[in-house]
Amino acid sequence: MANRKPVVAANWKMNGDRQLVKQFIEIVHAAEVTNNVDVVLSPPATLLDYANTTRLGQKADIILSAQSISELSSGAYTGELSANMFKDVGCTWVYCGHSERRHIFGESSEVVAKKFIQAQKNGLTPVLCVGETEEERKKGKAFSRLTSQIEAVINLAGKDCFQNAIFAYEPVWAIGTGKAATPEIAQEAHKFIRGMIAAMRQESAESIRILYGGSVTPDNAVELFSQPDIDGGLIGGAALRPLDFVKICQAAT
Ligand code: 13P
Repeated sequence: MANRKPVVAANWKMNGDRQLVKQFIEIVHAAEVTNNVDVVLSPPATLLDYANTTRLGQKADIILSAQSISELSSGAYTGELSANMFKDVGCTWVYCGHSERRHIFGESSEVVAKKFIQAQKNGLTPVLCVGETEEERKKGKAFSRLTSQIEAVINLAGKDCFQNAIFAYEPVWAIGTGKAATPEIAQEAHKFIRGMIAAMRQESAESIRILYGGSVTPDNAVELFSQPDIDGGLIGGAALRPLDFVKICQAAT
């Protein structure tokens, strides 16, 4: 994992309530994992303000992330939430292009790139999520899919855009299926992503953290996180169980 501080991020998706926020923050603090790992919590937007005040009442060492932002700044866009609104409730990170946004809500790679730019412009760190479908992998098109998703961001945001960003490799076939990528498959994809960044800017490639997401559990985390190009995880289902989440954080140290 080189000198990069590991990250373990909890993506609650459309799950959770205040009680779980409180329990999660208490359990993470009691386990004292935040010195060695950047711990990130992304509950639904309605819980962020509560999560912010709860973490401040204890220690402000849990990073808050939005699950998605609008590509627009402000105005008459009913239902949308802007980067600044998330900053106002303590968020410093945001996921861009999660596979569920791309596949269920039809976000194109161009829209994802606009959100990435909107995040950076407003001082949020974007976590760019990329990953291929099962069909693309079977047809030998996994790397071309990753390339097109990454190039869409470079085309709009420029070659230096990964100086302040995080990557998440989340193969669509591994999300919520219980079928995590093998450490070898994940490492190969992470190495490919790091190589793409190195081709543009070597320093960014060395410092950028690339997280693996897709059916991570306390049982498979150690092996996945011990791969040289895997710098932690983006956790869905297991992040709704704070004790399991803490075990995953411990696996990253
Ligand atoms: P699961 O851990 O439930 O597979 O979800 C992964 C994910 O999508 C995290 O963003």
